[in-house]
Amino acid sequence: MCGIVGYLGTREVYPILIKGLRRLEYRGYDSAGVAMINGSGHLNVYKRKGKVSDLENFATGNDTTGTIGIGHTRWATHGEPNDVNSHPHYSQSKNIVLIHNGIIENYASIKEGLKKRGHTFESQTDTEVLVHLIEEIKQHDNMKLGHAVLAALNQVIGAYAIVVMDKNDPTTLVAAKKGSPMVIGIGENEFFIASDASPIVEFTKNVVYLEDEQVAILRRGEDLKIRSLKDKEVTPYVQQLTIELENIEKGGYDHFMLKEIYEQPRSVKDSMRGRLNAEKGIVSLGGIVEHEAKFKNAKRIIFIACGTSWHAGLVGEYLFEEFARIPVEVEYASEFRYRNPVIYPDDLIIAISQSGETADTLAAIELAKSKGATIIGVCNVVGSSIARATHAGSYTHAGPEIGVASTKAFTAQVTVLTLMALHVARIKGTLPESRFRQLLYELESIPTKIEQALKLNAEIKDIAFKFKDSTNALYLGRGFTFPVALEGALKLKEISYIHAEGYPAAEMKHGPIALIDEEMPVFVIATKGPNYEKVVSNIQEVKARKGKVIAVVTAGDKEVKGTADHTIEIPETDESLVPLVSVIPWQLLSYHIAVMRGCNVDQPRNLAKSVTVE
Ligand code: AGP
Repeated sequence: MCGIVGYLGTREVYPILIKGLRRLEYRGYDSAGVAMINGSGHLNVYKRKGKVSDLENFATGNDTTGTIGIGHTRWATHGEPNDVNSHPHYSQSKNIVLIHNGIIENYASIKEGLKKRGHTFESQTDTEVLVHLIEEIKQHDNMKLGHAVLAALNQVIGAYAIVVMDKNDPTTLVAAKKGSPMVIGIGENEFFIASDASPIVEFTKNVVYLEDEQVAILRRGEDLKIRSLKDKEVTPYVQQLTIELENIEKGGYDHFMLKEIYEQPRSVKDSMRGRLNAEKGIVSLGGIVEHEAKFKNAKRIIFIACGTSWHAGLVGEYLFEEFARIPVEVEYASEFRYRNPVIYPDDLIIAISQSGETADTLAAIELAKSKGATIIGVCNVVGSSIARATHAGSYTHAGPEIGVASTKAFTAQVTVLTLMALHVARIKGTLPESRFRQLLYELESIPTKIEQALKLNAEIKDIAFKFKDSTNALYLGRGFTFPVALEGALKLKEISYIHAEGYPAAEMKHGPIALIDEEMPVFVIATKGPNYEKVVSNIQEVKARKGKVIAVVTAGDKEVKGTADHTIEIPETDESLVPLVSVIPWQLLSYHIAVMRGCNVDQPRNLAKSVTVE
């Protein structure tokens, strides 16, 4: 997954490109490049392996003037990260340059044909093939750039968000997308193009989310023009951006991840805003109202997601079965899409995705749609591909999540799923009124309880110091906290590179207990609830084998306190809402351990914020 940015207007383009790429580096950061056309019509291209700062150092002292340009930060899919594979890529004549986020699946066959017609290639990328094809069509059919791009994309199979620039036409940028995200900003006599709104928001709030199979022609002094791949004119739908610049800055925290952990009281509250009124006994998710009948008659709900979002789906399983008495299955999108699953028309699919761009989840949605299922989305990015691929849905209003490790998105997803399960329970009448009202009031108190959990940061940091050199870790939970055990393990491994596994606490006896020794930290959630005594027994089994136990307990707990090596006391809440509070210590623990180990917390090795390739 890569970050793309483009600008056409009256300002100096280079600073806009570089700042935009910095804002997009969370999307991929193994190489970066920029291309500008200066006032004399000269095309300058600077691109290299490494981060945007490396690119900036490389370009220093060179001609970076001009008011039209494109930029790219890469997460390699075809061709290793190096200078020649970095974007922008040149056409054969080197007059046209192109940047790309996505995968051209049939690039090899196109490349073979181009080679036979005398084209030579510098890189191993699929992207370079596309810009050669565009130029060949442009020259052969004497087309304008926009039409040549449109014609070329009709030969392409795959996903793309591209921006194309022609040295011989410094008044025009051409953009196009399919399966990868793209936002176009519209200012006074200027246009901005980016993978998301973060490079645009400080300049304009007027944006157009390009739809799949659309080509946008941006020309100086003219209004934005959009054509479909079938060459039909499309009227641009201009929306107002709702995020602010500070949303995307670190806000004084050392890392985006820490900022986002501390934003959770607000992001959970925002995810409930306008959807919950405990006093009036109201839960209402506008996005699903027109599908209430579907929920009411659903014989089965299937969650499809990846990673942390899959863990949120696992919490959703417990919520919907407990509150709405609907059977639930939770599927990894990558498995679901290739398994030829049995899907009935009265199945209800709920797709969960923070970025709204995860390729496997998107593909799983298309498969389920093709079999007649209704798809509900739970996404965090407005206008994202998954949001637009579903029949309906409810956004998590967590705001931009920049840190690669998902934190506030998880609690926002669980919040929305809790509201959804309560909404459905209400229309199905599966919850006694008293229990329903009690849950609404308790849900309303969760942001405050998360705030209280965040106050444990200092003691959690002390515990982190004791286990920062561990090589392995076990996370245990039962019932509603089993998914939190999985989530805690994922957080630790993806940012500190310590191997960690999450298990249902009872499963320990079926193998993992063999791992227990004095070197093995075992992180257990042992909050008050129907499984409490059983978890206490599990803790004793670990202690009997000299394991180190770090337990999250309900404030005031005495029993576990007397057994575990360390306890973290969180505010008491309803068992079904414990995931929202008990995940906070595990987020902070993994954050501090990763920082103490000198890891790149916001951009962990090998990872990207959203996996838009298979
Ligand atoms: C979680 O910390 C990871 N960044 C990763 O597992 C992520 O949750 C997964 O890739 C799914 O992303 P999505 O929610 O944007 O679809």
